[in-house]
Amino acid sequence: MTEIATVSVTPFLDQRPGTSGLRKKVPVFQQPHYVETFVQAILDSVEGIAGATLVVGGDGRYFNREAIQTILKLAAANGVAHVITGSGGLLSTPAASNLIRRRKALGGIILSASHNPGGPDGDFGIKYNVSHGGPAPESLTEAVYARTRSLNGYRIARAPDVAIDAPGRTAIGAMTIEIVDPVADYAAMMEQIVDFPAIRALFAGGFRMRFDAMSAVTGPYAVEILERRLGAPAGTVINSVPLPDFGGHHPDPNPVHAAALMTEMMGPGAPDFGAASDGDGDRNLIVAPGLFVSPSDSLAVLAAQAPLAPAYAEGLAGVARSLPTSRAVDRVARALNLPVYETPTGWKFFATLLDAGKITLCGEESAGTGSNHVREKDGLWAVLLWLNILARTGKPAADIVREHWAAHGRDYYSRHDYEEIDTAIADALMADLRASLPGLPGRTFAGLTVKAADDFTYTDPVDGSVTARQGVRILFEEDARVVFRLSGTGTSGATLRVYLERFEPDTSRHGLDPAEVLAPVVAAADALAGIRARTKRDEPSVIT
Ligand code: G1P
Ligand code: ZN
Repeated sequence: MTEIATVSVTPFLDQRPGTSGLRKKVPVFQQPHYVETFVQAILDSVEGIAGATLVVGGDGRYFNREAIQTILKLAAANGVAHVITGSGGLLSTPAASNLIRRRKALGGIILSASHNPGGPDGDFGIKYNVSHGGPAPESLTEAVYARTRSLNGYRIARAPDVAIDAPGRTAIGAMTIEIVDPVADYAAMMEQIVDFPAIRALFAGGFRMRFDAMSAVTGPYAVEILERRLGAPAGTVINSVPLPDFGGHHPDPNPVHAAALMTEMMGPGAPDFGAASDGDGDRNLIVAPGLFVSPSDSLAVLAAQAPLAPAYAEGLAGVARSLPTSRAVDRVARALNLPVYETPTGWKFFATLLDAGKITLCGEESAGTGSNHVREKDGLWAVLLWLNILARTGKPAADIVREHWAAHGRDYYSRHDYEEIDTAIADALMADLRASLPGLPGRTFAGLTVKAADDFTYTDPVDGSVTARQGVRILFEEDARVVFRLSGTGTSGATLRVYLERFEPDTSRHGLDPAEVLAPVVAAADALAGIRARTKRDEPSVIT
């Protein structure tokens, strides 16, 4: 008999989930009872836990293994009937979403801090996904948070750690644990979505690609799919072994953190196509030889060309983008007469639209793109859809992008992040900006005249739920836009994100340096919000 212990605890008061679950530094999660309390609160807040099937897995970062063992013992003690996990406890976020859907699980607990650094001093995170495979809605995460503050104990099985390193079955008490190959179901799904024979022919013809898995979870997925199933040469996937600290790198696929890949793609003899994915495999970076493709542009290109893939051959139902994502995809939607939705930041807002069949494709400027195949963004899927497009059109990636701009115009785009600023300063900046909104229309800042200004409130067209204060957006007469918001995923201080864009319809002006085109928008943003004066920073911490 497995003994079930009830352990009394004093509640932690800081377990409020953000944009994407609870994210904290590893030492915070390592405090005695910390993981236990948060997971017990999830198990208490989700209906139907007794007798349920749950998917549990993570991106393999530091503390993943320990946390999984704890979660398994909590699940067993709370009456969960069956847990499905990947061998080694590994599951990319999109693969976990797929497993929840395919195996009709009640939900899943995903361990990741996405693109944040890992290791003993890095970040860790826990989030709950619901039965459709997507992140829990705010109503549930708020219920979990309330529960963390009121519970006084947790139930845990007193059992030894279980072996989960190879596919098979094991158990804790009455709860069975099924350990699956983390890649198999995901790879099978991709074969149904994109044109594998066309991509195989592309590689057979000598097409060269570099995929940087950033020593994170996508490595095994990319090696299996790109190298084994699609025939890309061995070595196409670099940094393919998931490491607990991601090799000391920051597993965020943007031009700053994927610097080695960018250098290769910008240099002489660059491969035909470059790509990368993040810590948990839901983000993507796309780069053509000599040309970085901004995630907002990538979303627009994918929306325009998706019908070249078998899964989307009949066209798209609609598209969606988060507020700060550039309006490039809106132009495609207009041209194709498709509905387009603007949502707050965070994948959970796309889930209801996908579930209701209102959209087929969606994406965020932060390198997340996805479709109705799962309820998370999906890094490798985006890369495969790009390969499908390249294979079926026979055109170089840079031509695809330039032709897209010629057809729809170019939305020059950049994001400036000010990291680890004092929370009080950040809050005051946003509060003052909000207070100034009614007086802004008609005023000119750095040569740009404000046309409209508001704080984005989203009403979900499916369930009617209203989410307020999702970002301050300023639209200028000159068809430029700036959005200000504070990050909901940071783990120390506040991060101010400033999203800048300007539309350029004239094809002869499509080859300019984005920094140059956006300089007036940057100046206007500073004039509007007093960023430099308030933060005492001369420049952003990261520009993407
Ligand atoms: C960031 C991104 C957002 C993404 C989230 C989770 O959130 O900006 O688009 O959905 O990570 O990957 P933020 O830190 O801005 O709240
Ligand atoms: Zn991620």
